[in-house]
Amino acid sequence: MIAIGCDHGGINLKKAIMKKLDEMGEEYKDFGTYTEESCDYPDIAKAVCGAIVSGECDKGILICGTGIGMSMAANKIKGIRAAHITDSFSARMTKEHNDANVICMGERITGVEIAYDMVEAYLNAEFQGGRHAVRVGKIEE
Ligand code: RB5
Repeated sequence: MIAIGCDHGGINLKKAIMKKLDEMGEEYKDFGTYTEESCDYPDIAKAVCGAIVSGECDKGILICGTGIGMSMAANKIKGIRAAHITDSFSARMTKEHNDANVICMGERITGVEIAYDMVEAYLNAEFQGGRHAVRVGKIEE
């Protein structure tokens, strides 16, 4: 189950990504925001990441204007490895090497088609383990 969330700066891209996830047959839970009214991205990051830490969801997608604030907030939460991404190579690599459990992107930065590619690349990738597991373990320490 994917946890997805955005602030007011990311709501249009979130809606587009949810449509894409529907087409892909991926299950997700939307943690808001639900309107274009201004809100604070750390609150949404906390809700999405909380669902991952609790085990309710296993991956997350966070969207704000740039993706930067969301990634900063998400990475403050123990157990969250959030990657701010702008391309599909990074989307794949951050799963394969960093075992990222959250990807963050910006509606004001990334076009819809690029975002679709990033989501697909991330969801289709697998953590490679081995030496990468040692390194991810050091992050967790
Ligand atoms: C909201 O205006 C904007 O600051 C937010 O969406 C995000 O880009 C923060 O990093």
